[in-house]
Amino acid sequence: MGYDAKFRIWRGDTEGGGLQDYTVLANDGEVVLDIIHRLQATQAPDLAVRWNCKAGKCGSCSAEVNGYPKLLCMTRMSTFTEDEVITVTPMRTFPVIRDLVTDVSFNYEKAREIQSFTPPPGLGPGEYRMKQVDVQRSQEFRKCIECFLCQNTCHVVRDHEENKQAFAGPRYLMRIAELDMHPLDVAERRDTAQNEHGLGFCNITKCCTDVCPEDIKITDNALIPMKERVVDQKYDPLVWLGNKLFRR
Ligand code: SF4
Ligand code: F3S
Ligand code: FES
Repeated sequence: MGYDAKFRIWRGDTEGGGLQDYTVLANDGEVVLDIIHRLQATQAPDLAVRWNCKAGKCGSCSAEVNGYPKLLCMTRMSTFTEDEVITVTPMRTFPVIRDLVTDVSFNYEKAREIQSFTPPPGLGPGEYRMKQVDVQRSQEFRKCIECFLCQNTCHVVRDHEENKQAFAGPRYLMRIAELDMHPLDVAERRDTAQNEHGLGFCNITKCCTDVCPEDIKITDNALIPMKERVVDQKYDPLVWLGNKLFRR
C-alpha cells in the first residue's frame, strides 16, 4: 500500500540554497533513493543526486538523512513512520556542487598522498608469498566501497576546514594501516602516518565506524592498532637506540 511521504530536501548550489518541502508517493519495500527518483520523475526534474548501483556497492549515493550520514539506496522507507518528515541534505564536510551532490575530491587528493604498496626490491612477479593469516587481517579493509561517509562524519574535519590539510581521515588512515600490516610492504609507514597524515588527530571517537555501511571496524581494527605500532616504535628502547646510532 502506498502513502504520501513528506520530504524536506536541500536544494541549491555553490552560491547557497535551502530546504524545500515535497510530498511524494512511497510504496512498500522502497528506499529513500526510490523516492528521490520519483521526485525527479514527477516534480523536480532538475534535482541533482549522485548514484550508480542502487545496491550499496558503488558508494555514490552518500548523503545525510535526518542528519545521519547514509547511503540513500540502503536507507529503507520502513525505518520511518508514515507521518515523519524525512530531511535529506548533502554531505556536510565536502563542498556542494548542486543539491545532493558534493565535490569529494578531498578524498582523491588524500588517496594520492599515500605511498603505494612497496614490495622489497628484487621480488619478481610470482614470488609474492603471504600467510593466510596476513591475508585475512587486511581483507576486512578491502571491503571499503569509498562512500566517504566516514570521512564526512569524523569531527576532526567535519567542523574544522582548517584540519583538512593535515588529516587524511579514517578511510585513508585505514589504508595506511592496511599497508603497514602487509608483510611484503617495506615502506616506512609509522612516522609518516603520524607526521604527514595526521594519525594523532584521531581521538578514537569511533563515529567513523558507526556510519560505515560495510561494517568495517575502522577504529578497533585499523586506527588503534596503527596508533599502537607508532607508539611501540617511538618508545621501544631498542628502536630508540637504533635511531640514535644509525639515523643521525
Ligand atoms: Fe565508506 Fe566504510 Fe569505506 Fe569509510 S571505510 S569510505 S564508511 S565503506
Ligand atoms: Fe575520527 Fe574515527 Fe578517529 S571518527 S576521530 S577517525 S575514530
Ligand atoms: Fe551505489 Fe547507493 S547507488 S551505493
